[in-house]
Amino acid sequence: MKNIAIIGIGNMGGGHALAIHYGTGYTDWQIAQIINPDIEAVTTDISKKLKLVGVWDIDPVRREWAEKEGMHVYSGEDELFDDPNVDIVLIALPNHLHCHYACKAMRAGKHVLCEKPVTPTSAELEEILKVSKETGKVFYPRQNRRWDPDYLAMKKIFDEQPIGKPLNLENRIGGGGAAGPFGWRAVKAYGGGMMLDWGVHLIDRILQMDKTKVLQVACQTFNLNGPDKNGEYVDEGFNLRLVFEDGFNVYIESGAAHFDSPTPAWRLTCEKGIAEAEAMTGEGAKIIKPAPRDPNFVRDFASLPTRKPTVMRGEGKPWFPPRGGNNQEEPIDLVIFDRNSLYRNLVNCIEGTEEQIVTGEQALRVLRVMETALKSGEMGGIAIDFEK
Ligand SMILES: NC(=O)c1ccc[n+]([C@@H]2O[C@H](COP(=O)([O-])OP(=O)(O)OC[C@H]3O[C@@H](n4cnc5c(N)ncnc54)[C@H](O)[C@@H]3O)[C@@H](O)[C@H]2O)c1
Repeated sequence: MKNIAIIGIGNMGGGHALAIHYGTGYTDWQIAQIINPDIEAVTTDISKKLKLVGVWDIDPVRREWAEKEGMHVYSGEDELFDDPNVDIVLIALPNHLHCHYACKAMRAGKHVLCEKPVTPTSAELEEILKVSKETGKVFYPRQNRRWDPDYLAMKKIFDEQPIGKPLNLENRIGGGGAAGPFGWRAVKAYGGGMMLDWGVHLIDRILQMDKTKVLQVACQTFNLNGPDKNGEYVDEGFNLRLVFEDGFNVYIESGAAHFDSPTPAWRLTCEKGIAEAEAMTGEGAKIIKPAPRDPNFVRDFASLPTRKPTVMRGEGKPWFPPRGGNNQEEPIDLVIFDRNSLYRNLVNCIEGTEEQIVTGEQALRVLRVMETALKSGEMGGIAIDFEK
């Protein structure tokens, strides 16, 4: 059992506070939608792993909310960092503040669970990792969407290859439904933009799916709302292409303006079929295989140039069936997983009983892909060699 304190109890930190305070581990509504008894049966009881000992936020409204929920609210950040009762500090602040507070926490003798993106730049993460090494404290990136049902369904098809070798993957997600990112997410200096907000999750998962080198990164970014208050531009959406050493091709698309994500959110094309799933819940995840060919069907290519049309346009059977016409579909079973894997692993790796699953080095690689992608975006989307 470890004692945890949270700095920043807004949208995400507030979710963590409730999840840990009430011992459910439910941090966000998307996962909470998956109420499945088989998943609950294998899920770690987080009330036996983590105890919320206090929270701090500069916003008095958020502090009042926490008090009403029965949480202990510190008198200021220093009281939190000086509390000898705190083993772990969870950082759920705007992105540009993560590095400062992560280093401060580790120097105060605390382990750190840090919201994604752990930092806006790889240089800041390198500094954090140096402090983690110096102090011997665990730095744990909260790249939690590795445990989303949609991703797990696609990863299963990638790993087990029931429809042959994976060839390429498309993954799309929206991000807010507004005309662009809002609040601090719309300001470059605060670590805003869709690449740092959603790109981090999408890239992290793909790097855990295909473990070979990323040879090339190409990315187009767009900004529709103009400069932020400092005259800088955040990416309000991006289209990213990653080429892996084993030939796997990945296309990732995210944009603040299309929360109702274009469907399917996932499309994994393999040698013998396609796997599809919707975002977050993995609802309707399925394999689609073409119907077996008629063994007597012979396409008469030789006569094509001279052949006369035998039916008029609009009559007869179309030569090419409509999408889905002859396909065979099979559902992909929900992957049963411990939905508190990340919290469990955080505590167990501090206690030395489990290897750290999401590591600082993995987060650093994701940040380097994102930096390369944004650089490609600035250059109009040209492909940049990455781990060649
Ligand atoms: N892993 C996920 O799925 C996920 C989802 C949402 C957000 N996040 C991450 O969580 C972090 C916070 O995002 P959010 O949506 O909760 O933002 P938010 O704006 O809702 O919350 C941030 C909170 O930090 C407080 N704050 C700001 N400066 C502070 C300071 N110096 N000291 C104390 N409190 C301060 C604000 O008052 C606010 O309550 C970001 O890094 C974001 O990327 C992760």
